[in-house]
Amino acid sequence: MKIGVIGTGYVGLVTAAGLAELGHRVIGVDKDEAKIQKINSGGVPIYEPGLEELLRANMKRGKLSFSQDVAASIREVDVIFVCVGTPQLDDGSADMCQIEEVSRQIAENLSRYKLVVEKSTVPVKTSHWIKRTMNLYRKSEVEFDIASNPEFLREGSAVSDFLNPDRIIIGVETDRAKDILLEIYQKYRDRIIVTNIDTAELIKHASNSFLALKISYINLMANICERTEANVEQVAVGMGLDPRIGPRFLKAGIGYGGSCFPKDIKALVKIGEDLGVDMSLLKEADRINFDRVRIFLDKVKQALWILKDKNIAVLGLAFKPETDDIREAPSIRIIRELLREGARLRLYDPKAMDNMKGLYPEEPGRTTYVASAYEAIKGANALLLLTEWEEFASLDLSRVKSLMANPIIVDGRNIFDPEKVRPLGFEYYSIGRR
Ligand code: UGA
Repeated sequence: MKIGVIGTGYVGLVTAAGLAELGHRVIGVDKDEAKIQKINSGGVPIYEPGLEELLRANMKRGKLSFSQDVAASIREVDVIFVCVGTPQLDDGSADMCQIEEVSRQIAENLSRYKLVVEKSTVPVKTSHWIKRTMNLYRKSEVEFDIASNPEFLREGSAVSDFLNPDRIIIGVETDRAKDILLEIYQKYRDRIIVTNIDTAELIKHASNSFLALKISYINLMANICERTEANVEQVAVGMGLDPRIGPRFLKAGIGYGGSCFPKDIKALVKIGEDLGVDMSLLKEADRINFDRVRIFLDKVKQALWILKDKNIAVLGLAFKPETDDIREAPSIRIIRELLREGARLRLYDPKAMDNMKGLYPEEPGRTTYVASAYEAIKGANALLLLTEWEEFASLDLSRVKSLMANPIIVDGRNIFDPEKVRPLGFEYYSIGRR
C-alpha cells in the first residue's frame, strides 16, 4: 500500500514522516515547488523538535519521498491523506478552498480505487462536500471512499504525539475504508475508535474547543484571584486533583494562541450557529481569551504608568514554547500596543524572532531583536515574559536585576515564584497571584 500526503505544513510533514516511520511507503506532496526543493535538499520549512531527524531517516531508508507533481502522485498512491490548510475567513468559518481544490485534483486523477482521508481540521459534514465534488469531477466510474482521521498533534511535541497517540479516531462509512485505516494504524489497535464520519470530524473541533474553554475558565478564575487573596496556581492544583477535571490545560496566562484553538473555536461557533444552535458558551470563552492581552497590558501600565520612551525587554514571542510559530500569538497584539504607545522594545525568543521580524521589522531605537535574554534586559525599565521557554525559567535573577534600569517583571506565564523573586528586590506582577 502506498500513501500520499497532500500538504507539507505542520500536519502534513509530521503525518508523512510518522506514517513512513510506521513502515509505510509515503509520498509527501505539495504544489509549492520551493518548499519541496527545500525538503528534498535536507531542509525543514518549520522548527519542530525531532522532525528533521525523522524526515531524514525515512528519506534515507527509501520509505519517504517528496514531490510537487500533485497529479502524478495521486495516480501513484492508494490512500491520500489530505493535510492542506483550512484558514479562517472573516465570518469565523474555515476557508475550504484548498480542500475543494484537492478533491477536484483527486477526482481528475482517479486511476483506480482510492481512499481519501481528511486529516486537516474540517467542519462536520465536510466529507459530504468532498464526495459530491469528486462525483462531479471524476472522469470514470472508479470507486473511492472518504474517511476522517483527525490529527491531535501539538506543535512542539507533534512527532511524539504522532508516534505515541492517546487515541486514533477513524470515521468511516464502509468496511473497506475501515480495514485500510486499521491496517495503517495496526500498531495502535488498542487506541483506535471507529465512528461515522460526521462524528470523527466533530470530535476534533469538540476537543480543541473544550481545551480552549478550559483555559478561558482558569483565566476567569485568575481574574477573581487577582481581586482576592486566592492563588490561581493552587486553585488549578486543587481542581486538577479531581480526576473528572484533570490537571492539564489549567495554566492561567495571557491566553491561548496558535493556528488551532483561536480558529477552531470560532469555526465551531459558526458551524453551530448555522445549524441553529446557541453557541454563546464558546463565544464567551473566545471573548475571555481576547481580553487576556488587555489585562496583561493593564499590569504593564500599572507598573510603568507612561510607556512612551520606556525601554521594555520582551522575552518570548512564539505562541508557546518549543516552536517558532507566532500565528495568533498574544505577543503580536502586545507588541503592537507597546509600539503604539511609543515604547522602545528589545525582543528575544529562542526560535521565533525571524517570523516576528516579518511582522515587526527592526527599527533602530524602537524595535530591536537581540541574541540573548540578558541582552534584551540590559537597561530595561521593565521585563515582560510572554512565552514560558525553559531558558527563561533558569535565568540568573541576580544578574537580571543588575542589568535592569528598574527591577520590574511582568510575567504573563507565571514562570517565576513570587516568593523567590520579590525578596531579590523585584517588583513582580504575574497572573492570578497577588
Ligand atoms: C492544539 C491541541 O492541543 C492539539 O491536540 C491539536 O491537534 C492541535 O491544536 C491542532 O488542532 O492541530 P497546539 O495549538 O499546538 O495544539 O498547542 P497547545 O499545546 O494545545 O496550546 C495552545 C495554546 O494554549 C497555547 O497558546 C498555550 O500557551 C495555551 N495554553 C495551553 C494555556 O494558555 N494554558 C494551558 O494550560 C495550556
